[in-house]
Amino acid sequence: MTALVLRGVKVFKGHLSSEQQVDLLDAIRAVARAAPFCRPVTPGGRQMSVRMTSAGAFGWVTDRTGYRYERRHPQGMDWPPIPDPVRAIWDELAPGARAPECCLVNYYGEGARMGLHQDRDEADFAQPVVSVSLGDAGLFRIGNVEKGGRTESVWLESGDAVVLGGAARLVHHGVDRIRFGSSSLLPDGGRINLTLRVVT
Ligand code: SIN
Ligand code: FE2
Repeated sequence: MTALVLRGVKVFKGHLSSEQQVDLLDAIRAVARAAPFCRPVTPGGRQMSVRMTSAGAFGWVTDRTGYRYERRHPQGMDWPPIPDPVRAIWDELAPGARAPECCLVNYYGEGARMGLHQDRDEADFAQPVVSVSLGDAGLFRIGNVEKGGRTESVWLESGDAVVLGGAARLVHHGVDRIRFGSSSLLPDGGRINLTLRVVT
């Protein structure tokens, strides 16, 4: 399995077969039934365009109080366990890492985007971040560990996986836009991104 390496970020194009994508989507639908998607608000009070839920021991949440991990969904229920097919991707792409404690599920509808940011709410930056794309293509932008400077972009398509690890663990990244309707995996369109992380 060969990765494209962009600014230290490993991009595995076509990592999942279409059967695996369908299985993964079924597993994520079950997660969303147990822990419904929310439209989070940033600490600055802006409503995010992406909808979110999580699986695992922790979920990543944001509201006026700040960005953080929580043991429970904002509505009070436990987060469902990380589905086995999701865990299998982690084991394959992050061999030797600790077990993932959070699978953040992002849903991008038409017009949704995610600004450049670092994943830095975790305690152990020696552990990688693994992300998986399903559904419509998204234009993923990769910057630098420091703010500013040059960036490079790559279209992430359904079944692609990305690893942010080593010197690239803290690079800035974001999703500028999605190509709504470019994939038929989700009947109503949109993009799902799964982000697996060790939290503690
Ligand atoms: C994120 O960085 O939280 C999401 C990345 C993506 O949607 O590909
Ligand atoms: Fe991120």
